[in-house]
Amino acid sequence: MSVNVVDMILKKKAGGALSEEEIRAFARGAADGSIPDYQLAALLMAICFQGMDARETTQLTMEMMHSGGVVDLSAIDGVCVDKHSTGGVGDTTTLVLVPLAAACGAKVAKISGRGLGHTGGTLDKLESIPGCSVEKTQEEFIAQVQEIGCAVIGQTHDLCPADKALYALRDVTGTVNCVPLIASSIVSKKLASGAGAIVLDVKTGSGALMQTLDESIELAKAMVDIGAQAGKPIHALVTGMDQPLGTHVGNALEVKEAIDILAGRAGGDLLAVSLELGSRMLVAAGVAKDVEAGKAKMREALESGAGLNKLKEMIAAQGGDARVCDDLAYLPHAAYKIDVPAKVGGYVAKMDTTAIGYVAQDLGAGRKKKTDAIDPAVGLIMQKRIGERVEAGEALATLYLNKPELANDAIARMQDAIAISAEPVTPPTLVYAYVSPEGVVRA
Ligand code: URA
Ligand code: CA
Repeated sequence: MSVNVVDMILKKKAGGALSEEEIRAFARGAADGSIPDYQLAALLMAICFQGMDARETTQLTMEMMHSGGVVDLSAIDGVCVDKHSTGGVGDTTTLVLVPLAAACGAKVAKISGRGLGHTGGTLDKLESIPGCSVEKTQEEFIAQVQEIGCAVIGQTHDLCPADKALYALRDVTGTVNCVPLIASSIVSKKLASGAGAIVLDVKTGSGALMQTLDESIELAKAMVDIGAQAGKPIHALVTGMDQPLGTHVGNALEVKEAIDILAGRAGGDLLAVSLELGSRMLVAAGVAKDVEAGKAKMREALESGAGLNKLKEMIAAQGGDARVCDDLAYLPHAAYKIDVPAKVGGYVAKMDTTAIGYVAQDLGAGRKKKTDAIDPAVGLIMQKRIGERVEAGEALATLYLNKPELANDAIARMQDAIAISAEPVTPPTLVYAYVSPEGVVRA
């Protein structure tokens, strides 16, 4: 029986649930182009208004997952764990926790993405290391994980073409921001990339896809539920994106911060969230009995230098210059360094993290169009966090740029993005909730 697309749109518009057959036709029609964009777009908008139930969301996920190839990691010994973040600013947890988790004995086969909008992408960060490649065949990928315990690469083949088509349409039709669509998009790709267990970092706050806590928890729950239905354990943390997570924003700058952390020279919120996520990966991989034991193991790997060594091995295995781990001078450096002064004194009260991400993008750290080139060296370093005291004229952040003519605009936008209050301010929460198949635990 063939499915009538107009009927499907009308049904969803009226609040009905799509049948199994209709969802299959929707995903296939998106993947092979047989349903025109205008009908897909209308259906996506109807889903945004009416939602999808758990059965529809899980089925859409599975159909999108099977719309292309599925990576087979069964040749790797043990449980392969993956971690995914819904996207943030200064969010380099991957480069901190992947080597630490691998140094603790977990196998991490990670397929990462590029920067999107105001958020950075791990592939772009890795490519800022001279020589480092994120392209591997599936055989090379598996061999690297088997040998050194970790690899971070781009997609090896056409994963989830249905999601690729739908995501591109959502991006230009105002239909990104919808829990079942985001959940199915993310989880379909994670399931297709072959991991045995998945830890998700769902961001919440001014730099996140979902800005309110309730929506972020709803998204985390939707993804954990799909995992339970699909027989893959998914655990999620809801963490704050009220300010950039690390202090460094920009590609080589974020690599530098990850190295600083692994070398024991830095810490802060980026390390704290990396330990929260990484310890859950260790539990999922069966190499730690609980979260506390996982954190202790990761701290040991940090203090012994095993994590930094693992990053060196990974960079070398991917063709990069591993000397960056011992000497940051081997990373690309921006020609100019300019401070953003606070206009008034007081306490840092609030940040528009999305706006800060866009400042870094406009300095050249991200792309406005898919075809834009990235300048690996540029970005910014935050000098203050929410709750800290700042004097008038003191630096809120430092811009790293190669085009000094961009400085004035960037300074003004940074000053607008960071609110200063006369009254003391409590720093924001870092971990808001933990969502597992057993339920939601709010911090
Ligand atoms: N990231 C994805 O991969 N998909 C979405 O829908 C949103 C963020
Ligand atoms: Ca296996």
